Amino acid sequence: MSSQDIPEENLPVAQADGADLEKHGDNPFADPGLPPHEHRIQDIDERAAKRSERTVAFLFTLSMLATIGFIASYVAFPVDKSIYVWPIGHISALNFALGMTLGVALFCIGAGAVHWARTLMSDEEIADERHAIEAPPEVKAKVLADFKQGAKESAIGRRKLIRNTMFGALTLVPLSGVVLLRDLGPLPEDKLRHTLWAKGKLLVNQNTNEPLRPSDVAVGSLTFAKPEGLEEHDHDFQTQIAKAALMIVRIEPDDIKDKQELEWSHEGIVAYSKICTHVGCPISLYEQQTHHVLCPCHQSTFDLTDGARVIFGPAGHALPQLRIGVNEEGYLQALGDFEEPVGPAFWERG
Ligand code: FES
Repeated sequence: MSSQDIPEENLPVAQADGADLEKHGDNPFADPGLPPHEHRIQDIDERAAKRSERTVAFLFTLSMLATIGFIASYVAFPVDKSIYVWPIGHISALNFALGMTLGVALFCIGAGAVHWARTLMSDEEIADERHAIEAPPEVKAKVLADFKQGAKESAIGRRKLIRNTMFGALTLVPLSGVVLLRDLGPLPEDKLRHTLWAKGKLLVNQNTNEPLRPSDVAVGSLTFAKPEGLEEHDHDFQTQIAKAALMIVRIEPDDIKDKQELEWSHEGIVAYSKICTHVGCPISLYEQQTHHVLCPCHQSTFDLTDGARVIFGPAGHALPQLRIGVNEEGYLQALGDFEEPVGPAFWERG
């Protein structure tokens, strides 16, 4: 079809003024060496343009619905519900729904933008001459004029349906991230204040599952312990072990500087929470000579001869100590629960 057959109102803006449409009109950037510009069906048929407009609007609307679906899934699906998805197998229904809806929301925005650019925005070939990197003021003014021209040619002002649905989709999609902020709360309140430790509970070696006697704890060794009766198949095992995990070391009583620490120990055997008071990593490194323990996450260091006070790193509090003794059979036992919250429970400390 010849460009002269095209109604003037359907021509790209740069050409709509009686220019030589077989080549590149009066476009000042057109390269005379380029082949004649071929118009798309949408350039010459307003019904085709409307169809494209509706397709783009449909994609943006679908994105909005998917974002709403994302938020609804987040609220509606329980965390522990799983579904079977071929060929992956059993996965969390919540993760599946969140992934699918967010994927559709982002895909539709991208697909809508691409379809809009390919079918409705100006696609006329232009040549952009190279110029000096430092742009003189008149070039900047020209760039600004070109930008305005581009905005005009994109027809964003004229295609109000696309513009409105695009703004709707772009406004809604960040809500997906906003609702995830809910995971920052609620605060655990007093859930970290109570652990399974209680008066008379035996200290059990975490590796062997055997109750510990004082003779099992040698000077210079680091032993990890848990409360008796806590088994791996127990419901809530991970939560309970995380809260109750202990590390036990033996220190010469004369080396213990903190009076309360000495009173709460048994023959120099001290028991401390293994959970770092910074952000809750398990402490695992022990320096025998100094009786310092180190958290591998951010290098907080605690002095076990001085009430496990922090001597280095970002942790803000000493490790909670468990008061221990021995029962009539000679096994190490707790003499109560921790007297302060374990882990990074800074909101509970007065
Ligand atoms: S969690 Fe232990 S130092 Fe950060």
